[in-house]
Amino acid sequence: MKPLKEKYKQLEDEGKALLAVNFYNFETLAGTLQATKERNSSIILQATSSSINYMGLPVTVGLAKYAREQFGVEAWLHLDHANDIELIKRCLDAGFDSVMIDASEEPYERNIELSQKVVSLAEPYGANVEAELGYVAKLGQNYDKVQFTQPDEARAFVNETGVNALAVAIGSAHGFYKEEPKLDLELLAAIHEVTPAALVLHGGSGIPADQLKGGIERGIRKINVATEVKNTFMQTLKEDLKTTDEIDLRKVFPSAINEVKKLIEGKLDIINS
Ligand code: 13P
Ligand code: ZN
Ligand code: NA
Repeated sequence: MKPLKEKYKQLEDEGKALLAVNFYNFETLAGTLQATKERNSSIILQATSSSINYMGLPVTVGLAKYAREQFGVEAWLHLDHANDIELIKRCLDAGFDSVMIDASEEPYERNIELSQKVVSLAEPYGANVEAELGYVAKLGQNYDKVQFTQPDEARAFVNETGVNALAVAIGSAHGFYKEEPKLDLELLAAIHEVTPAALVLHGGSGIPADQLKGGIERGIRKINVATEVKNTFMQTLKEDLKTTDEIDLRKVFPSAINEVKKLIEGKLDIINS
C-alpha cells in the first residue's frame, strides 16, 4: 500500500476523492470494508479519541490492520480530530498511517505551532498530517462558532506548517443538518487554487450527492462520514431487537452490518462516479 501522502497526489491528478469512514467496533468496520471490497474501492478508516478510549489503542490498530488484510482492500488508518499531542505520538508509534491535529479552536498562531509540531513528529513515520483551518461546527453545536476558511490564510497556513491535508470550513457541519446545507463551492475552488494540500470535507453526513460531487470537482480529496454510520447501525439494531429475543449476538448484528455496508456502497457510488 502506498503512503497516503502519495495517494493524495494521485487523487489530485485524477480529480478524485477518498471516502473516510469512522468505525466504533468490529461490526461498523466490517460493514465499511465489505462495501469497499464490493465496490473495488479504497478507503480511509478513521477513529476518534473516544473510539480509541472505548476499544483501547492496540485493539483499534489491530482491528483496522488485520481487517484490511483479511478483506484484501487498500485502507489507511487515520486518527480523526485529535488535539492531544501525546495521543498523536502514541498513535504514530502504534502504526497509524495518518493523523489529524485539530487545533481549529486555538488562535491562528497556536494552530500553526501545533500543526507544525505534528508534521515534524509524523515525518520519521512517513505519516500523513491533516490540520483544520477555519471552524466546522462539532456534533450538536449551533453554528455561531463556524468560521469559513479564507484562501490567503489557507495558503500561508499550509506553507508554514507543511501539512499534507487541510480540513476546510465551507458550510458543512458535524451531525445531521436541520436544513439542507449549502456548501460554498466558489470559496472551495479559491482555496484549492492557492494550496497544494489535499482538501478535506468534514461533516459528510447529510450532504446531498450533487454537492459532494461539486466539492470533488472543486478540490475535495477526502470526505468524512461518521454520524450516518452510527445512526444506520443503531436504528437497524433497535428495530431488529423489537421483534427478536435472540441472544446470540452473531445472529443479531449481521443485519445492522449489512445496512452499514449498503450505506457505504451508496456513498462510494456517489464519490467514485
Ligand atoms: P458527520 O458526523 O457529519 O458525518 O461528520 C464526520 C466527520 O467529519 C468526522 O471527522
Ligand atoms: Zn470531522
Ligand atoms: Na454532517
